[in-house]
Amino acid sequence: MSGYIDLHCHYVPGIDDGAGSFADGVAMLRGLGALGFTRVVATPHTRPGMFDNTNASLVEAFREFQVSLADAPGVPELSLSSEHYFDDVVFQRLLAGDGLPYPGGRAVLLEFYQIDFPPMVQHRMVDLRTHGLLPVIAHPERYQCLWRDPGILERLVDSGSAALLDVAALVGKYGRKTQECAEELLERGLYHAACSDAHRPADIVEVQRGIERLGELYGEEELVFMLREGPEALLMGEVPA
Ligand SMILES: [Fe+2]
Repeated sequence: MSGYIDLHCHYVPGIDDGAGSFADGVAMLRGLGALGFTRVVATPHTRPGMFDNTNASLVEAFREFQVSLADAPGVPELSLSSEHYFDDVVFQRLLAGDGLPYPGGRAVLLEFYQIDFPPMVQHRMVDLRTHGLLPVIAHPERYQCLWRDPGILERLVDSGSAALLDVAALVGKYGRKTQECAEELLERGLYHAACSDAHRPADIVEVQRGIERLGELYGEEELVFMLREGPEALLMGEVPA
C-alpha cells in the first residue's frame, strides 16, 4: 500500500515533546515512508503555557529541518501545520486568522483537555466553521468524556467537525479504555481519517500494528479511506463522505 497521508506527526525536532534530534525526525519519516506514507504533515504543539510556539517559531524550525534534510533524501513529502490546544487564547488566535491550519488554510487540527470538552464546544466549532475553518478533532478516543458518552462526538460531527483517529490506539498504546473508545467510534463511523501522532522513532512499530489492526477489522477499502481519501478531503477543507 502507498499514497498514505499522515495528518498528525511530531517529527520537527526541538520544539515540543516530539523528535528529540534531527536524526530521530528523519528516522520517524523513513519509518512512515516504509509503511506507505508519501506525505507527512508536521503538527507540532501550540499550547500556551506548555509549548509556547508561535507561527513564526514553527515556520522557522520547520524550515531549518527541511534545509538539513538536503543531506538525508528519501523521505515523504513534508508540510507544516500545528496541533492547536483548544483554549480561549488559541481560539481567539484562530478566529483572528493567526493559527497554523493545514496547507491550503481550510482545516485546522485541534486537541482538547483530556477529561472534558469546554462548555459550548459545539458552538465554538461552528464559530470556526463560519470563519472558514474545518475543525479536525485530534484523537477523540483519548477524551474521557467520550468514554462515557460517544454521542458527544456524534453531535460534533453532525454539526460539521471532523475526527482523526490515532491508529496506534487500536493496539492499546494508550490503554484499554482508549482502545475500546476507538473501536466504538469506528463502529459508529465517526472517523474521517487516521494518523500516526508519532513523537519518536519507537512509535512507528505501533503505527504499523495499528494499521494492520484497522485492516483486519474493516479491510483494505477502509485503509484507503482512512489513510488516503479521508486525509485528501480534509486537506481540501471538506468532510470526507
Ligand atoms: Fe499530537
